[in-house]
Amino acid sequence: MKILAIETSCDETACAVVEDGHAVLADQVATQIDIHRKYGGVVPELASRNHIVDAVPVIEAALAEAGLGFADLDAIAVTRGPGLVGALLVGLQVAKSIAWAHDKPLIPVNHLSGHLHAVYLHRPADPRPPAISFPHLALAVSGGHTALYRVEGPGGPVRLVANTRDDAAGEAFDKVARLMGLGYPGGPTVERLAKGGEPRAHTFPLPRFKDGNPLDFSFSGLKTAVLTVLERRREAGLAVPEGPELADLLASFQQAAVDQLTDRVVRAAHEHSVTDVVLAGGVACNRCLRETLATALESRGRHLRVPPPRWCTDNAAMIAAAAFPLVGDRHHHAAFDRRLNAVGTWPLFETA
Ligand code: KG4
Ligand code: ZN
Repeated sequence: MKILAIETSCDETACAVVEDGHAVLADQVATQIDIHRKYGGVVPELASRNHIVDAVPVIEAALAEAGLGFADLDAIAVTRGPGLVGALLVGLQVAKSIAWAHDKPLIPVNHLSGHLHAVYLHRPADPRPPAISFPHLALAVSGGHTALYRVEGPGGPVRLVANTRDDAAGEAFDKVARLMGLGYPGGPTVERLAKGGEPRAHTFPLPRFKDGNPLDFSFSGLKTAVLTVLERRREAGLAVPEGPELADLLASFQQAAVDQLTDRVVRAAHEHSVTDVVLAGGVACNRCLRETLATALESRGRHLRVPPPRWCTDNAAMIAAAAFPLVGDRHHHAAFDRRLNAVGTWPLFETA
């Protein structure tokens, strides 16, 4: 079963071909990061316009990489949401056109479900990742989402265990980077500049809630705490930190974000008695998070399953992987009429 997938929910135009939901035959991503960088974030209309420019070349490159033509494909998958509606519409229309012209089933996919399925991917020459037990927990940490799910079985259902009450974790990395003029996207730069810093130089306490779900996340207080450090420095006549001082501040911020994610995941894994925890989304590239969470889970007899960084950030291979368990059920095949539209907000757990 060969699925060609298209992903255009944000600022990456991506196309991949994946066999049987795991073997990546082609994986092409055209990133627009350099276009959006000078604006300090993604400009939705520019994203849509550049998806139009990049879509066909990226699809041609994916087919060439896989050594396949449209006739060899069994299905077309596409990200329907959540994401920027104008950006999603480009991918949806291209996917719809290919599926219609070549008479293939079209499978609309939730972008977050894609992130959660990245953990099954591997290149054909590499060994297949170990099987993941059900139910398991899955933490999606990206620029737009920070949510912990309980995944009951392949292809769902998925239950929400905890969500962020304000910012997403990736958003916190991006905002902190912006406070210090470190550019966009902030996550990779913060991680690089935090290297060698003392993670306990600044104390940023874990958020605790008096009401509601105690496993929920919150990152806006952490961002404000970093801002307060910067303001105190300014009041004392000091500049924005540089060198070792900057490394200490960023390492402390990063550690606090990682400690919060780890605290919630470890408690939830215990409550739900799961063996496996999947980590996904752009922030899952962060080595401090990968190592801290893996150590915390392993010491309690549980396992962290995390894709290689290439499939943590937005890509189309994960969309093909998420479509695979759905293809066999005609209920998941999209009609080529007005029912197939982009959805800016599409909570994963409601699709279960
Ligand atoms: O999953 P993704 O590519 O796009 C969304 O669906 O949002 O995630 C992008 C987010 C950005 O906020 C970026 O700063 C963050 O992931 N990110 C990181 C790292 N690499 C990317 N955050 C922390 N450390 C990293 N190494
Ligand atoms: Zn994403």
